[in-house]
Amino acid sequence: MRFREYNPDTDRAAAHRIWREIGWMREGDEEPTDLYFTGGRTWVAELEGEPECLSQTMSASVRYLEEEMPAAVLAAVATSHVARQRGLAKRLMAHLLALDAADGALLSIVGYFDQGYYNHLGFGNGSYEVDFDFDPATLMVSDRARTPRRFTRDDWEILHAAHLSRRPVHGRCNYTSPVHFRVETAHHKTAFGLGYCDTPDGSPSHCLWLNADNMNAGPYRVEWMVFRTPEQFRELMALLRSFEDQVRLIHLRQPPGLQFQDMLSRPLRQRSITHRGGFENAAHVTGGWQVRLLDLPGALARTHLMGAPVRFNLLLRDPIADLLDDGAPWRGIGGEYVVAFGEESSATPGQSAALPTLTASVNAFSRMWFGVRAASDLAYTDELSGPPELLQQLDETLRLPEPNPDCEL
Ligand SMILES: CC(C)(COP(=O)(O)OP(=O)(O)OC[C@H]1O[C@@H](n2cnc3c(N)ncnc32)[C@H](O)[C@@H]1OP(=O)(O)O)[C@@H](O)C(=O)NCCC(=O)NCCS
Repeated sequence: MRFREYNPDTDRAAAHRIWREIGWMREGDEEPTDLYFTGGRTWVAELEGEPECLSQTMSASVRYLEEEMPAAVLAAVATSHVARQRGLAKRLMAHLLALDAADGALLSIVGYFDQGYYNHLGFGNGSYEVDFDFDPATLMVSDRARTPRRFTRDDWEILHAAHLSRRPVHGRCNYTSPVHFRVETAHHKTAFGLGYCDTPDGSPSHCLWLNADNMNAGPYRVEWMVFRTPEQFRELMALLRSFEDQVRLIHLRQPPGLQFQDMLSRPLRQRSITHRGGFENAAHVTGGWQVRLLDLPGALARTHLMGAPVRFNLLLRDPIADLLDDGAPWRGIGGEYVVAFGEESSATPGQSAALPTLTASVNAFSRMWFGVRAASDLAYTDELSGPPELLQQLDETLRLPEPNPDCEL
């Protein structure tokens, strides 16, 4: 197997064959697919001289409390039907992450097809996401929405700018290039946007992007939303409520930090009377993304925590090391460190005899650092262990809001 950068002039046909084979590209999707391949770092793995695996990372910025950290989204990976299960995808992704780490990405995020696969690369589970299916008539908003402005796929540039400025929550992920947003927004032929332009320069202040297979009764799916204030959020909800005479069901992913059920009237009654019907009202919880650190000292230098300072030895295991070639520009972040968490945090190679020791995989440590789960909870289900007093101290110092990338991964 040989890894090299994707060349649009010579690899286009093979890349299309892979994406067609796995069902990601239909007839007519060639243009957005080509655009997608140019939006990031795209590489191929060759088998017998032919590209049979394609992977891509995209540079991004991920918010950690008040800091914006350079990051790499593991955006796509696909192996053709003739080259499966011989390590092509894992090794190619490991190589891409090594390049991203060498270029300054401090962490990486991936949306997964299933739990377990990306764990081989050092990723650990992110937070759960809650998806609501509800009848817009049950939305509890009293105000009427003003007449919104229509947005179409042609407005992608101003919508992208608005999307970047959505509520700045812990874990928010913004792609550096607009390509991902442009392609995802244009993906569904029936998609449309509605919103308001209250900013002084007339650009969208709050808006939503909807999609539906059945434009008549729904379900309508809210693909993404932009708002920054409670008033803007409520106006968007009032807008959704205004569809109640026609639309029976709306699908919406709970916005970061909010408890969306607050907005619904009698949700449990609704759930029981619509159970197993065509427009069932329900909430579903799933995990869909994972995170890993790529640069421990770099990320910790930007980690500012309000809790009491804590120092400890860290024995960190990084499974990605087994997937990297000798020539890779980065070897993972496994090793021995002295770590300090507090207003100023740091990670320095070495060990100190006076300090307690935490032993962890990079998968579990990344989850703890990002605030997905507390150290003493991870000790039950993941590869993280240490003296109970140290775990408790870490729980207290790393009290973080629930991280949420709030974007399509
Ligand atoms: C996912 C995909 C890229 C893997 O490609 P591949 O080149 O066959 O993958 P690799 O050979 O690197 O890895 C396969 C290994 O992972 C294992 N694996 C797969 N899913 C797993 C999971 N959820 N948990 C743990 N291990 C898993 C396989 O059993 C196999 O194990 P082995 O190495 O012991 O044989 C390929 O199946 C594909 O293209 N799928 C369709 C597109 C897709 O879903 N892409 C991912 C989008 S998030």
